[in-house]
Amino acid sequence: MTEAKRIAAEKAIEFVEDGMIVGVGTGSTVAYFIDALAGLRHRIEGAVSSSDQSSARLRGHGIEVIDLNNAGRLALYVDGADECDPRKCLIKGGGAALTREKIIAEASDKFICIIDPSKQVDVLGRFPLPVEVIPMARSLVARAIVAATGAQPVWREGVETDNGNWILDVHGLRITEPLVLERELNQIPGVVSVGLFARRPADVVIVGSEPPTVL
Ligand code: 5RP
Repeated sequence: MTEAKRIAAEKAIEFVEDGMIVGVGTGSTVAYFIDALAGLRHRIEGAVSSSDQSSARLRGHGIEVIDLNNAGRLALYVDGADECDPRKCLIKGGGAALTREKIIAEASDKFICIIDPSKQVDVLGRFPLPVEVIPMARSLVARAIVAATGAQPVWREGVETDNGNWILDVHGLRITEPLVLERELNQIPGVVSVGLFARRPADVVIVGSEPPTVL
C-alpha cells in the first residue's frame, strides 16, 4: 500500500497554490505529501502542523512551521485517515494526533483526505475508534463508553499524545450514524476529542489508485 499512499499524496500537491499556508496532518501517507511539498517550499508561506512528528519532517525540508494562532483560516488541509466512508466521514487518530488534526480541519476551508484503497469502507468501525482522554479520566471514560455503546475501549498503553494525554481505542463499533456517536462521546467529561470526523468530514478524498481517484 506504500505506492498507493505516495500516489494519493502526490495528487494532493495539485491543490497547493502559491503563497498558501498549508495545513498538514500526520502519518505515513502525509509523510509522502510533506516530501512532495518540499519541492514547492519557496512558493508557499509555510505550514501549520498537526504533530511534533510532522513538524520535524517539515522543518527537515526547510518548510517553516507556523502557529495556527498566527495563521488565521487556512485555505487547505491535507491529512490521511484510518477509515473513510462514502459520505467522507472518517476515523482518524491511529497516529494519536487526532486532537490537533481536528482543530486544523475545523480551521480549514478545504480538507483533502489522502488514502490508499484499503481505507475505504461502507460503515466505519472496523478500525478501533481512537478517543483522546485526560489521564485521570481514563477509567471513567472507558466505563461511559461501554455503557453508551457496548463496545470495548482498550487503553493504548505507553502512548502519550503531543498534548500529554492518553488514548482509548474503542473496538467492536459499527458506526451507522457517525454524527450522533461523535456528539455523544464528546459529551463525556474527560474526553478531549473523538477520532470521528463526521461533523467536519473531508471535502475531497483522493484514493491512491493508478490513476488516482478524486472523490
Ligand atoms: C494520525 C492519523 C493518520 O492520518 C491515520 O492514522 C492514517 O495514517 P497512515 O497514513 O500512516 O495510514 O489520523 O493520527
